[in-house]
Amino acid sequence: MKVLVVGSGGREHALCWKIRSSPLVSEVLCAPGNAGTASVARNLPVKASDIPGLVELARREAVGLVVIGPEEPLCLGLADKLRAAGLLVFGPDASGARLEGSKVFAKEFLTRHRIPAAQSRRFDRSGTAKSYLEACSQWPQVIKASGLAGGKGVTIVRSAREGCTLIDALMEERTLGEAGVEVVIEEFLVGEEVSVLAITDGEALLILDPVMDHKQVGDGDSGPNTGGMGVCSPVTVLSRRMMRQIEQHVLVATLHGMRLEELSFRGLLFVGLMLTESGPRVLEYNCRFGDPEAQALMRRMRSDLVPYLIATAQGKLGELEGPEWDSRVCVGVVGAAEGYPGSVRRGDPIHGLAQAEAVPDVVVFHSGTRFSRGLEPEVLTDGGRVLCVTSLGKDLTEARELAYTAFDKLQWEGRFCRRDIGLRHLTRPAQTSADAAPGASATRTEDPERPLRRPGPR
Ligand code: AMP
Ligand code: GLY
Repeated sequence: MKVLVVGSGGREHALCWKIRSSPLVSEVLCAPGNAGTASVARNLPVKASDIPGLVELARREAVGLVVIGPEEPLCLGLADKLRAAGLLVFGPDASGARLEGSKVFAKEFLTRHRIPAAQSRRFDRSGTAKSYLEACSQWPQVIKASGLAGGKGVTIVRSAREGCTLIDALMEERTLGEAGVEVVIEEFLVGEEVSVLAITDGEALLILDPVMDHKQVGDGDSGPNTGGMGVCSPVTVLSRRMMRQIEQHVLVATLHGMRLEELSFRGLLFVGLMLTESGPRVLEYNCRFGDPEAQALMRRMRSDLVPYLIATAQGKLGELEGPEWDSRVCVGVVGAAEGYPGSVRRGDPIHGLAQAEAVPDVVVFHSGTRFSRGLEPEVLTDGGRVLCVTSLGKDLTEARELAYTAFDKLQWEGRFCRRDIGLRHLTRPAQTSADAAPGASATRTEDPERPLRRPGPR
């Protein structure tokens, strides 16, 4: 079967890399892809936001399965259009993608279904938002643009003054365009942040091994938020008990809510959570694999991914057993371009890719790269997050050593990374393996009226 992967980031490189290893797949196509996907897939120059162009491409190439990487085409209804054209698709319809596309909608959904999340208020007028901030007694507060903002929509503000300036920028000056027409202001939560990803066809849930992202740009979680500067998996701070709470009170409850509201979801449900003293709280939903979470998961998944993608697209996920995971630790270090997460320099040649990949158990996934023109094309930087160096080690110390050894073989003008990916876990008491979070579990929720409060047959 031919598989088309839509997107051009590190997540899509990791998905193409994994899908290509499947005996079920004859060829992987990537639209539009990057210099890294070109080594594992046939890149086709159709943008991820070109919905008619992608439908035409999928038909012309007679692909057996389309896997949609980024949120934008999902929110624009690419999956709906492809399904209407009779294609098999991994990725939710626009109705399900609203959980990511509108923070206001997501917040109201969480409240309607009593899913634990930060307390929040929505505002569609800057005046009322500013009055609310001026009356706040607890600081910091978190201000979120409601629409898609490419990881730039969330800011933690420490005073009413700072908050009001931001509200003016978002709602009056429209610095993030339409994304800032409405905002959500919510309480600031303290705790460890984890990403829990589950494959679902709306009926069954397959929870993948948890991952920890590092959102802020600087070491020690300093500086502004980014799309993600590095990952480690598995996550030692997540106990079995906490994972069960997340499964029942968040994931199963979300599926139940989606069914009640007739939101169609055949794809990847990603929940960003804060593990607070009072239990896990949802920070956000995403309707697709995380980036760089996908890179770590694809390195650690030993089973073939493709049967899960196909079964999800067909609504038959409940027929499959959970996948096998590599028990080793994966660390992923993102290399960024000067200026990230603001405006960045592009077009700098990247040196040392072969040397970095020669480090044992290391794979480099490209995010923002492209080839130069000419007879002997070079790989150039072409985005804020340039690549992600992933390693597998017997423990976190070894995985970190391998990842940074490989990273240091790479060179481009203005390159930088965080030096503390996974480091926090080294300084914390490790949990016993009996208490560590489980690997994937497949939970069937058979009765739409009564979501399971117990795991179903595996
Ligand atoms: P979001 O896109 O909603 O996940 O927010 C981006 C990042 O902002 C999260 O990954 C957290 O690091 C941070 N964040 C969001 N909401 C909160 C909150 N209520 N309290 C503390 N940090 C938050
Ligand atoms: N790494 C977080 C995200 O993909 O949204």
